[in-house]
Parts: sequence; C-alpha cells; structure tokens
Amino acid sequence: MPRKIAAGNWKMNGTAASLAMLRDLAANLPDAGPDVLICPPAPLLFRAVDAAAGTSILIGAQDCHAAASGAYTGDISAAQIADTGATYVILGHSERREGHNERNRDVRAKIEAAWAAGLAAILCLGESLEDREADNTLDIIAGQLAGSLPNGATPENTVIAYEPIWAIGTGKVPTLAQIVDVHDFLRAELTDRLGATTADDISLLYGGSVKPDNAALIFEARNVDGALVGGASLKVADFAPIIHAL
Ligand code: G3H
Repeated sequence: MPRKIAAGNWKMNGTAASLAMLRDLAANLPDAGPDVLICPPAPLLFRAVDAAAGTSILIGAQDCHAAASGAYTGDISAAQIADTGATYVILGHSERREGHNERNRDVRAKIEAAWAAGLAAILCLGESLEDREADNTLDIIAGQLAGSLPNGATPENTVIAYEPIWAIGTGKVPTLAQIVDVHDFLRAELTDRLGATTADDISLLYGGSVKPDNAALIFEARNVDGALVGGASLKVADFAPIIHAL
C-alpha cells in the first residue's frame, strides 16, 4: 500500500514567525493519520526542522541544484538540504519548469542529486490548459514521467504529484474522472517501468486548489494517495481539515 501523504508547499510565503503554525498543526493531527510534510522556503529549513522536533511533521525543500557543490550563486545543493534535517525535496514543480526554464532532463538530474543526498523527491507533473483542451494530457504526462524520473525509483525515494497547471492557485479543480484518468495512467506507466511490486507502493499525490471543502471528494479518487497543497497549507485552519479528510 502506498503511504498517504499530505504535503504543504509554502512556495515563497512565510517568515520565521510563520513556523509557529507547526506546533498548532501538530496539536491538530489525527492519531493515525497520513504522513504530514511542510516545505517552507529554503531560509527557514533549519528552523522548521527545529520547530517540528518532537512532532510527526516532516520537513522538505522546494528545489535543489543538480550539482553536489560549486560556483552556483544563489542555489542550494541536495546535501545542504539534507544537512538541515529535511528529508524531502519538491522537484519539477510547474513554477520551476515555467519560471526557470527547467526541462525534463534538468529535473531528472536534480532527482538523482536528491537521491544521492538521501532525500526523497516529490516529482511534479502536469499539463497546461492548452494541452488539456487539445486532449494531449496523457502524452504530456507520459513525456514528463519518462524524461524526469531517473532509473532507480522506489516507494521510499519517490513520490509523484500530478498538478494540472491550470488548477494551481486558480480555484479550478479537475473532475474526479479527469484526476482518476491521470492517476491510473501514472500507476500503469510506473508498473510498466518498475514492476507492480514497486509501482503499487509509490504514493501519487494530486495538487491544484485542494481546499478543505473539496479534499474529501478528491481523496475518493482511485490512486490518489494524498495531496500537494499550496495556499491551503499556510494556515492550520485550512490544512488540518485536509489532513483529516485523507
Ligand atoms: O505545490 C502546490 C501546488 O502548486 C498547488 O498550489 O494549492 O495553491 O493551488 P495551490
């Protein structure tokens, strides 16, 4: 069985004061609930790990460089992320693919770096509205998966997040059938590549405008093992009900 995961991506939001929410969140978690992960901006990682100490909340980063070290001003390596005590890193988010020209091969190299540093990677995939309307969604997803996921994926080192670009931060959510189509497809592609034993245990998250009022319905979808949540992960009042719905 894949792990259930509720992951919060704070994107470029929050300061040290925002980390107070981790204690509140921990106090509002279900007893035997999903894995809960918070991915704050990089400058907060060390403090976030401290703030989450003694709770079950895991901490992740939002990106890493593919190189182990070197002259890359402004970048951070996977080993530096691991050094903070964080255990996950989001890679290939559409905001990186679009805003920073990351191609599939760049994402693949970053995942290899993350694995080498002992981090689990959350690989993000998703189609644009144009691709969706042209009925190209599964081709896009297949291309991103084939190009971005290195050989060697396991349920421990890899989580896949399906995030339709047109659903991110827009309040628009695909139909349940559209989500199931993509998640079934992802499971089948992973099975072809890795075999059922491995593929069946890899967690597949949905991301894009997940809110307290739609989470329960989204989590009914087959092969949806959790969510990658942006805006609604910033406040306990929004994120806790999503976690409870999983
Ligand atoms: O990484 C998270 C996603 O981009 C979803 O963001 O929940 O604000 O739509 P959102």
